Amino acid sequence: MNYEEMIKLAEEASKNAYVPYSKFPVGACVLTESGNVYTGCNFENSSYGMTICAERNAIGTAIASGERKIKAVAIFSPKMKNCTPCGACRQVMSEFECESGLDVILQADNGIKVTPLKILLPDCFEL
Ligand code: THU
Repeated sequence: MNYEEMIKLAEEASKNAYVPYSKFPVGACVLTESGNVYTGCNFENSSYGMTICAERNAIGTAIASGERKIKAVAIFSPKMKNCTPCGACRQVMSEFECESGLDVILQADNGIKVTPLKILLPDCFEL
């Protein structure tokens, strides 16, 4: 699975987003060290703070399938290029970053943009 294909899967997942409040759909695709992929979309709630981002939904599905080592996360929104992950999702990604690091893949104006999580979240909290 290459990174362009992951963006396509994230785009597909964004079509299932439940976003009656923000009207801002997001899809995510997680690639694990073992080569498996998992997708997720954001889903909102009338109690706004209960909203789950696409990235955390996809990571939760990967975890529920027994995965623990994530190599890359692709994010797509039809409403915004370079839809970069929120701080909470960056922290959640860091928990499952694999030895070789975790790439965050975004849809740029021309092609994709790949940024290591360590750049997006330097010096992160770890126990
Ligand atoms: N959202 C995501 O799902 N991922 C991001 O990277 C940014 C924000 C969602 C949360 C909420 O449902 C909507 O986008 C607007 O903030």
